[in-house]
Amino acid sequence: MENMFSLKDRIAVITGASRGIGEAIAHAFAENGAHCVLVSRKIEGLEGVVADIKKAGGSAEAIACNVGDIDQIDSLVAKIKEKFGKLDIIVNNAATNPYFGPMDGIDEVRWDKTFAVNLKGPFFLIQRSIDLLAASGKASVINVSSINGKRPAPMQGTYSITKAALISMTQGLAKELGSKNIRVNALLPGLTKTKFSAALMENDDIVTEVYKAIPLGRHAVPEEMSGAALYLASDASSFTTGTCLTCDGGALA
Ligand SMILES: NC(=O)c1ccc[n+]([C@@H]2O[C@H](COP(=O)([O-])OP(=O)(O)OC[C@H]3O[C@@H](n4cnc5c(N)ncnc54)[C@H](OP(=O)(O)O)[C@@H]3O)[C@@H](O)[C@H]2O)c1
Repeated sequence: MENMFSLKDRIAVITGASRGIGEAIAHAFAENGAHCVLVSRKIEGLEGVVADIKKAGGSAEAIACNVGDIDQIDSLVAKIKEKFGKLDIIVNNAATNPYFGPMDGIDEVRWDKTFAVNLKGPFFLIQRSIDLLAASGKASVINVSSINGKRPAPMQGTYSITKAALISMTQGLAKELGSKNIRVNALLPGLTKTKFSAALMENDDIVTEVYKAIPLGRHAVPEEMSGAALYLASDASSFTTGTCLTCDGGALA
């Protein structure tokens, strides 16, 4: 019997793959046989990751796409259709958080950007890929939400709203797409050391308080999200859809 975590012959699109959690997931998927299409706004950031994956014996390519722009999503999906004719895995991982502060201070521009990248982009990448995902026969979509989608974080209220909506979107699409053998799940990381969390982690007072609320008493490194993503992407989770897999050191317990 084939290894149930194998991604051999699967095509995986991973957004936000130039660093952090997306990069770690891309390495794990490539190590397990997937061809990884790495996406972020800047091609230069992706090229090093592609080179590292190839050096390790894996298969990957880079496509620049701002997921907050539907025309760019359409162009990404058109390239995948032309080259592969199917899509097995989407990891909607790219996100932004341009505003840190109480919600009553956010302006419309930053509100719209947060929703465009964190919610609209993931939705339309899935919507425009439905025929390609259906052609897989065993497609898996992973929406990278956050524990803040379940418990809004102070000073990150608007970001938290988008992550909560992503969980709702995951559940709704799981119901609608199950008949096409497209599974849709959410991964909810807790505090993970990346560029995204750098501002918070560099503040000793905040981070000490945050660690107190995490039963494991520490932050994660991006590689600690890879096993959960591999589980959700592979046949190991073949009867799992519409769920949230939380990797947070126990913070939500
Ligand atoms: N780190 C944490 O503590 C934590 C906790 C919970 C959830 N998360 C979630 O985990 C995911 C990954 O976060 P991370 O910490 O790994 O962040 P990160 O290290 O800052 O990486 C973000 C990635 O997203 C890309 N990106 C940003 N805006 C984009 C856009 N408009 N279009 C396409 N790509 C874009 C970035 O590349 P470019 O700049 O080249 O576009 C980069 O590859 C996010 O969904 C985040 O909300 C993180």
